[in-house]
Amino acid sequence: MLPNLTINPQRLWDSLMQTAQFGGTAKGGIKRLTLTAEDKQVRDWFVREVEKLGCTVTIDEVGNMFATRPGKNPNLSPIAMGSHLDTQPTGGKFDGNLGVLGALEAMRTLNDMGYETNAPIEIVDWTNEEGSRFAPAMLASGVYAGVFTPEYAYAREDRQGVKFLEALDSIGYKGKDKVGAHKFQAMFELHIEQGPILENEAKVIGVLQGVQGMRWYEVTVSGQDSHTGATPMYLRKDALLGTARVIDRIDAIAKEHAPYAVGSVGLIENRPNSRNVVPGETFFTIDFRHPDDAVLQVMEDKFRAALADILTPMRLSYDEKRIWDSPAVKFDPVLIDCVRKGVEKAGFSNRDMVSGAGHDAAYIARVAPTTMIFVPCAGGISHNEAESTSLDECAAGAQVLLNAVLEYDSRLG
Ligand code: GLV
Ligand code: MN
Ligand code: MN
Repeated sequence: MLPNLTINPQRLWDSLMQTAQFGGTAKGGIKRLTLTAEDKQVRDWFVREVEKLGCTVTIDEVGNMFATRPGKNPNLSPIAMGSHLDTQPTGGKFDGNLGVLGALEAMRTLNDMGYETNAPIEIVDWTNEEGSRFAPAMLASGVYAGVFTPEYAYAREDRQGVKFLEALDSIGYKGKDKVGAHKFQAMFELHIEQGPILENEAKVIGVLQGVQGMRWYEVTVSGQDSHTGATPMYLRKDALLGTARVIDRIDAIAKEHAPYAVGSVGLIENRPNSRNVVPGETFFTIDFRHPDDAVLQVMEDKFRAALADILTPMRLSYDEKRIWDSPAVKFDPVLIDCVRKGVEKAGFSNRDMVSGAGHDAAYIARVAPTTMIFVPCAGGISHNEAESTSLDECAAGAQVLLNAVLEYDSRLG
């Protein structure tokens, strides 16, 4: 029988708004790139808050943080609730933050009621989920899951040439624990949907079934810098023009695999980027996603063929590399059932769904039973300073998170 514990919506909201000040932007969003001074501020705040609750904080060698509240049975490993506190450069207030602060609210509620769980309960903040400063995304949960080595993570460089390890050291969050040594028996991640489906169907909760596959690539195109006035059109080696044609083709490839495929070029550097120099070099990134890994492979084959077909006749050379492959993930049926029970108890409308965005849960699912809970976000807008989820929607998510964790815990008794 699930206990009746009710989270405090206003307290959750206040914590979301308070932490949004760390890296807060004029447009109401957050710029809190991983392992920056702002990331340190929010981590320090998090440590203070969980210590007030009597939690023990453990930090591993890639900066993942675990705040653990003891249970009745010390022989049981913890039940984790986690997400991330880093953001995009023009991030919103909810992506990642709701998952950590919703978990904090669930933990505060347990404390208010003096409720003793069977297993320890913990909150996790995964380092560098966004992959915006250090590619790829979900980097430190990937190390935890054994997908990457710590050395691989340490050597990732941002676009200024700063290494992950230097940045981690500089904010003082390189912990002592070997990555993966701190175990938990299950993880629930609460997140905003980051797309329009729940809002469109007027549903409050998404009961996640899995995460679609994702592949990231980096391309450098090389031509020749030359004078824009003196170089006739037929003698140019214009790297930016070649890149523009490739970008158009990437859009077409995604559309050829409608309705589920997506393809984007989100980062481009043009060199020398001077108005009277024909661009001699570009660097750009590609992000392809689809729920079926076989379709992603077809998209990759088409993209590689397009590079050769478009660039070679333009006398451009190129270097291309797939830097990330995160296969499609299916979540754990037992945990999904706990979420369903949690939603039913709370009485919220809901639907099953697959995540279009990447999440730490996708990697954690490889090493522990894992699932996710979604709440709507206005207009489906995310990775945007205008990202918006209401107080009631945030509260609904945190309540379902708490209910699901307690349902899981009650089965251990
Ligand atoms: C992470 O936010 C991603 O889906 O790229
Ligand atoms: Mn996120
Ligand atoms: Mn994100």
